[in-house]
Amino acid sequence: MKILCLSGPNLNMLGLREPGIYGASSLEDIHQSLQDQAAADEMSIDCRQSNHEGELVTWIQQARGNFDAIILNAGAYTHTSIALRDAISAAELPTVEVHLSNIHAREAFRHTSMIASVCAGQIAGFGSHSYRLALEACKDLKA
Ligand code: DQA
Repeated sequence: MKILCLSGPNLNMLGLREPGIYGASSLEDIHQSLQDQAAADEMSIDCRQSNHEGELVTWIQQARGNFDAIILNAGAYTHTSIALRDAISAAELPTVEVHLSNIHAREAFRHTSMIASVCAGQIAGFGSHSYRLALEACKDLKA
Protein backbone atom coordinates (compact mmCIF):
# COMPACT_ATOMS: atom_id res chain seq x y z
CA MET A 1 0.00 0.00 0.00
CA LYS A 2 1.36 3.41 -1.03
CA ILE A 3 0.48 6.42 1.11
CA LEU A 4 0.95 10.10 0.31
CA CYS A 5 1.27 12.26 3.44
CA LEU A 6 0.82 16.00 2.85
CA SER A 7 1.25 18.84 5.32
CA GLY A 8 0.22 22.39 4.55
CA PRO A 9 1.26 25.90 5.50
CA ASN A 10 3.38 26.62 8.56
CA LEU A 11 3.76 22.94 9.43
CA ASN A 12 7.43 23.21 8.40
CA MET A 13 7.72 25.31 11.59
CA LEU A 14 6.68 22.47 13.92
CA GLY A 15 8.88 22.25 17.00
CA LEU A 16 9.40 26.02 16.94
CA ARG A 17 5.82 27.12 16.33
CA GLU A 18 3.57 27.46 19.42
CA PRO A 19 4.92 24.25 21.04
CA GLY A 20 2.23 24.48 23.74
CA ILE A 21 -0.35 23.81 21.03
CA TYR A 22 1.54 21.80 18.41
CA GLY A 23 4.21 20.01 20.48
CA ALA A 24 7.98 19.80 20.40
CA SER A 25 8.42 17.40 17.48
CA SER A 26 9.65 18.77 14.17
CA LEU A 27 7.96 17.75 10.93
CA GLU A 28 11.16 15.84 10.07
CA ASP A 29 10.74 13.85 13.32
CA ILE A 30 7.13 13.07 12.40
CA HIS A 31 8.08 12.04 8.86
CA GLN A 32 10.85 9.75 10.17
CA SER A 33 8.45 8.12 12.60
CA LEU A 34 5.91 7.57 9.77
CA GLN A 35 8.62 6.06 7.56
CA ASP A 36 9.56 3.63 10.36
CA GLN A 37 5.92 2.73 11.05
CA ALA A 38 5.17 2.24 7.34
CA ALA A 39 8.24 0.05 6.82
CA ALA A 40 7.26 -2.14 9.78
CA ASP A 41 3.81 -2.58 8.21
CA GLU A 42 5.21 -3.24 4.71
CA MET A 43 3.70 -0.02 3.39
CA SER A 44 5.43 2.86 1.67
CA ILE A 45 4.87 6.51 2.51
CA ASP A 46 5.88 9.67 0.66
CA CYS A 47 5.86 12.68 3.02
CA ARG A 48 5.78 16.25 1.66
CA GLN A 49 5.06 19.76 2.95
CA SER A 50 4.11 22.93 1.13
CA ASN A 51 3.12 26.44 2.13
CA HIS A 52 1.34 26.84 -1.21
CA GLU A 53 -2.28 25.87 -1.78
CA GLY A 54 -1.80 25.27 -5.51
CA GLU A 55 1.14 22.92 -4.94
CA LEU A 56 -0.96 20.86 -2.52
CA VAL A 57 -3.78 20.76 -5.11
CA THR A 58 -1.32 19.56 -7.77
CA TRP A 59 0.08 16.84 -5.52
CA ILE A 60 -3.44 15.60 -4.69
CA GLN A 61 -4.31 15.53 -8.41
CA GLN A 62 -1.14 13.58 -9.20
CA ALA A 63 -1.87 11.07 -6.43
CA ARG A 64 -4.68 9.57 -8.49
CA GLY A 65 -3.41 6.24 -9.84
CA ASN A 66 -0.09 6.58 -8.02
CA PHE A 67 -1.11 6.16 -4.35
CA ASP A 68 -3.70 4.15 -2.45
CA ALA A 69 -4.58 6.73 0.21
CA ILE A 70 -3.74 10.26 1.34
CA ILE A 71 -3.02 11.59 4.83
CA LEU A 72 -3.61 15.35 4.82
CA ASN A 73 -2.95 18.02 7.40
CA ALA A 74 -4.04 21.04 5.39
CA GLY A 75 -3.19 23.47 8.21
CA ALA A 76 -5.12 26.74 7.91
CA TYR A 77 -6.29 25.80 4.40
CA THR A 78 -8.53 23.26 6.17
CA HIS A 79 -10.81 26.12 7.10
CA THR A 80 -10.78 28.03 3.81
CA SER A 81 -9.94 25.92 0.78
CA ILE A 82 -12.68 24.83 -1.59
CA ALA A 83 -9.84 24.10 -4.07
CA LEU A 84 -8.39 21.44 -1.77
CA ARG A 85 -11.86 20.03 -1.15
CA ASP A 86 -12.47 19.72 -4.89
CA ALA A 87 -9.04 18.16 -5.47
CA ILE A 88 -9.70 15.49 -2.81
CA SER A 89 -13.09 14.78 -4.31
CA ALA A 90 -11.63 14.47 -7.83
CA ALA A 91 -8.73 12.25 -6.72
CA GLU A 92 -11.16 9.51 -5.64
CA LEU A 93 -8.66 8.25 -3.06
CA PRO A 94 -9.49 7.66 0.59
CA THR A 95 -8.14 10.66 2.48
CA VAL A 96 -7.60 10.95 6.23
CA GLU A 97 -7.80 14.50 7.60
CA VAL A 98 -5.25 15.08 10.35
CA HIS A 99 -4.66 17.82 12.91
CA LEU A 100 -2.18 17.90 15.76
CA SER A 101 -4.48 20.10 17.83
CA ASN A 102 -8.15 19.53 18.60
CA ILE A 103 -9.54 22.11 16.18
CA HIS A 104 -13.00 21.77 17.76
CA ALA A 105 -11.71 22.94 21.14
CA ARG A 106 -10.04 26.06 19.70
CA GLU A 107 -11.22 29.32 18.08
CA ALA A 108 -14.61 29.16 16.32
CA PHE A 109 -13.03 29.75 12.90
CA ARG A 110 -11.16 26.43 13.29
CA HIS A 111 -14.36 24.46 13.95
CA THR A 112 -15.26 24.39 10.26
CA SER A 113 -13.38 22.06 7.93
CA MET A 114 -13.97 22.60 4.23
CA ILE A 115 -12.47 19.17 3.53
CA ALA A 116 -14.09 16.97 6.19
CA SER A 117 -17.09 15.97 4.06
CA VAL A 118 -14.88 14.53 1.31
CA CYS A 119 -12.48 12.75 3.70
CA ALA A 120 -12.87 9.22 5.04
CA GLY A 121 -12.49 10.60 8.56
CA GLN A 122 -10.75 13.09 10.78
CA ILE A 123 -8.11 12.60 13.50
CA ALA A 124 -7.45 15.67 15.65
CA GLY A 125 -5.98 16.46 19.03
CA PHE A 126 -3.31 13.84 19.60
CA GLY A 127 -0.26 15.93 18.72
CA SER A 128 2.29 14.22 16.50
CA HIS A 129 0.57 10.92 17.30
CA SER A 130 -2.37 12.08 15.11
CA TYR A 131 -0.25 11.31 12.03
CA ARG A 132 0.58 7.81 13.31
CA LEU A 133 -3.11 7.15 14.02
CA ALA A 134 -3.91 8.30 10.48
CA LEU A 135 -1.42 5.83 9.03
CA GLU A 136 -2.99 3.11 11.17
CA ALA A 137 -6.42 4.10 9.77
CA CYS A 138 -5.11 3.89 6.19
CA LYS A 139 -4.48 0.15 6.59
CA ASP A 140 -8.20 -0.55 6.52
CA LEU A 141 -9.18 2.00 3.88
CA LYS A 142 -10.28 1.08 0.39
CA ALA A 143 -10.75 3.59 -2.44
C1 DQA B 1 -3.65 22.44 12.38
C2 DQA B 1 -4.85 23.24 12.89
C3 DQA B 1 -5.13 24.44 12.00
O1 DQA B 1 -6.24 25.17 12.50
C4 DQA B 1 -3.93 25.35 11.95
O2 DQA B 1 -4.16 26.43 11.06
C5 DQA B 1 -2.68 24.63 11.61
C6 DQA B 1 -2.43 23.33 12.20
C7 DQA B 1 -3.26 21.31 13.35
O3 DQA B 1 -2.52 20.42 12.92
O4 DQA B 1 -3.64 21.31 14.52
O5 DQA B 1 -1.81 25.15 10.90
O6 DQA B 1 -3.99 21.85 11.13
